[in-house]
Amino acid sequence: MTNDAIIEESIQGTATVLKNTLQPENKHKKVYIETYGCHMNFSDSEIVASILKDQNYITTDNEYDADLLFINTCSIRDKAEQTVRNRLNQLKNIKKKNSKVKVGILGCMAERLKTKLLEEEQLVDMVVGPDSYRKLPEMIDETNTGQKSVNVFLSKEETYEEIRPVRLNTNGVSAFISIMRGCDNMCSFCVVPFTRGRERSRDPFSILAEAKDLFDRGYKEVCLLGQNVDSYSWKNPETNININFADLLRMVAETDQSLRVRFSTSHPKDITDQVLHTINKHDNICNYIHLPVQSGNSEVLERMNRTYDRAWYMERIKAIWNIIPDCAISTDIITGFCGETEAQHKDTLSMMEFVKYDLAYMFKYSERPGTLAEKKYADDIPEQVKRNRLNEIIEKQQKHSEHRNKKHLNEVFLVLIEGVSKRSKEHLFGRNDQNKIVIFPKGKHKIGEYVNVFVNRCTSATLFGDVVYN
Ligand code: 5AD
Ligand code: SF4
Repeated sequence: MTNDAIIEESIQGTATVLKNTLQPENKHKKVYIETYGCHMNFSDSEIVASILKDQNYITTDNEYDADLLFINTCSIRDKAEQTVRNRLNQLKNIKKKNSKVKVGILGCMAERLKTKLLEEEQLVDMVVGPDSYRKLPEMIDETNTGQKSVNVFLSKEETYEEIRPVRLNTNGVSAFISIMRGCDNMCSFCVVPFTRGRERSRDPFSILAEAKDLFDRGYKEVCLLGQNVDSYSWKNPETNININFADLLRMVAETDQSLRVRFSTSHPKDITDQVLHTINKHDNICNYIHLPVQSGNSEVLERMNRTYDRAWYMERIKAIWNIIPDCAISTDIITGFCGETEAQHKDTLSMMEFVKYDLAYMFKYSERPGTLAEKKYADDIPEQVKRNRLNEIIEKQQKHSEHRNKKHLNEVFLVLIEGVSKRSKEHLFGRNDQNKIVIFPKGKHKIGEYVNVFVNRCTSATLFGDVVYN
């Protein structure tokens, strides 16, 4: 597999099948949910499972055994949509064997393609946009009468705030909490504003209640999710007091000292010093920021409608270094955006040199129908040039990841144990404060415990070490 393919697969190509966490009983109906794309989608599938649980459905990881087959889809790049199309082809066999099974397309592709999906994919019975999950029970009823059902209404208010997500595929240690939905940024390359609608923030008290509930059930880490968490804003209708993201972070961190708090995604134009000081002040807010740069060139950033330039981004990076000296930083980069010259590409490479990111998600530009870029600019960078530039940044990133990890050699980190290492049953893995995967011999330790690990070896992706006892 090429680097390119690995990166693509890690971001968008791998599906997550939600494992059954409830005891099956015969009287229950069964739903199989396959999730593609981002953490937000994964979190949405948990909301869907919760809504269906109230309708007497349990989840199953056996697609042949299901009454409902749901595919929660991603539209961010063309390849993500192709993966879903291929999967739908495979599902035809299941429908041949079991004509009663209903197939639903959920999420961004549903929203983007609407009724077109019904025309193009005969086996699809339901098309359900990201803000329509409460309507699922009625939609299922409709399909049971032999009709097809579509609901792609985008809401300005829906945050599913009082729904307690059924935790699926869980390690019992770490859970996502969705704090807002939608995006108002209108980056010119991005389909998200069209598939997930306007930005809206969820009531902080429902977020705190969810964090507390998770903690009481033994979870040790929450990750607050939003397309742009730094623009979180909620006004208390009674007191008129506004709560911003820094306030929310502090409130969640105060749930308990031993509950780790992570968040994603930050936006360079909105991340404030107040947020950075809040991270620094609370030991349980992790020193890790995902700050997508997209390009290192100001003209490209302008065409991308990112609303910051190279100098602004560098200033924000310096603010992170000043306020949180040991903060890990990751990013997203797009290569071959419309009109990107070789010199502009070099600016991205030099930005990478400046920051030396701990981790980067790197993509070739993929034109998305309906976006501002599609309307305004030609997708004029040849595929081969996009690929070469991508390979160049991947190569550089590998060096930087290794460089950053090497700096951690001979350091001791507090690691929250998340599971058994894939390569060896005798080893456990967890993550440190900076979101780095750390692998160490199992000893008598258990998933969900915190341990101190002395790092004695590393690759560009992983730290290895031994537990230290004091
Ligand atoms: N083509 C390539 N990459 C894209 N992203 C978003 N839209 C596109 C697109 N049309 C990337 C951005 C974003 C990440 C989630 O996906 O880098 O930050
Ligand atoms: Fe898309 Fe930009 Fe919103 Fe991210 S911030 S989801 S890239 S529009």
